[in-house]
Amino acid sequence: MRGLSEKVGVVVGGAGGIGTASCLRLADEGCAVAVGDINGEAAQEVAERIRARGGRAISCQTDISEEDGVRDLISRAVAEFGGLDVLHANAADLSPENIGRDSDAVDIPLEVFDRTIHVNARGHLLCARHAIPELLKRGGGSVIFTSSGSSFTSEAQRVAYAMAKAGVNALVRHIANRWGKEGIRANAIAPGLVRTEKNFEILEGQGVLAAVLSSMRSPRVGQPADIGAMVAFLASDDGEWITGQVIAVDGGSTMR
Ligand SMILES: NC(=O)c1ccc[n+]([C@@H]2O[C@H](COP(=O)([O-])OP(=O)(O)OC[C@H]3O[C@@H](n4cnc5c(N)ncnc54)[C@H](O)[C@@H]3O)[C@@H](O)[C@H]2O)c1
Repeated sequence: MRGLSEKVGVVVGGAGGIGTASCLRLADEGCAVAVGDINGEAAQEVAERIRARGGRAISCQTDISEEDGVRDLISRAVAEFGGLDVLHANAADLSPENIGRDSDAVDIPLEVFDRTIHVNARGHLLCARHAIPELLKRGGGSVIFTSSGSSFTSEAQRVAYAMAKAGVNALVRHIANRWGKEGIRANAIAPGLVRTEKNFEILEGQGVLAAVLSSMRSPRVGQPADIGAMVAFLASDDGEWITGQVIAVDGGSTMR
């Protein structure tokens, strides 16, 4: 993809599933990558995988909800690679004790609501807040968030998750509007069901995979690499006229 070999990217939540696929695809396209994740050890492993394939990567233990950590990750990427062109904010608190208790508007424990908004929405704002000044120094760049189809469809459960993701969609439009003339593009990817190492057994066990697959206009569920490919496209110069969009990559689960 055009231009990626000269770029530097930061992926927050890069040490699992979709985030790792994003790191690997960006690196395979020649982009230098800083892998940030709350799981510092796993982030280090992803960076090592990239270097073993001949790519450029560093890692950093980063909690997306802690401003100092996010600032540190961006600073380290800039110090190591000379600047920043791409941000992919991907992290979300998908732990069973959080999303597993994210129920409906009447019953959701407020600490679950607060935690979800804190990590899944405010954390993305923090990433943008510290990345944008660096992107401006390079004359612009690409900001990419991982949203979800639940931000524009409906679910009877997971009210906080959907609200946080809808907030991310609003953040996309805000950034695209506020800094578009200065060369910054902002987009979100709304994945459909993507099979990862973590969710596969749970979904399979609950029979969810088969149910979701039946609603897709595709013969298969998603793979992390499907999302990594869209990240690379949006990060590259091939995507330079795409901004302010929430793009569904979901095998046709949602059609608009
Ligand atoms: N897998 C799907 O089907 C699917 C569908 C729609 C949207 N999404 C979204 O895609 C993104 C990635 O999901 P995934 O399925 O790859 O999950 P995953 O659990 O495999 O990866 C999430 C990564 O984020 C990290 N993380 C969690 N909390 C963090 C924090 N506070 N700070 C920094 N890193 C943190 C985790 O350690 C992990 O490496 C999420 O935003 C999720 O909401 C996933």
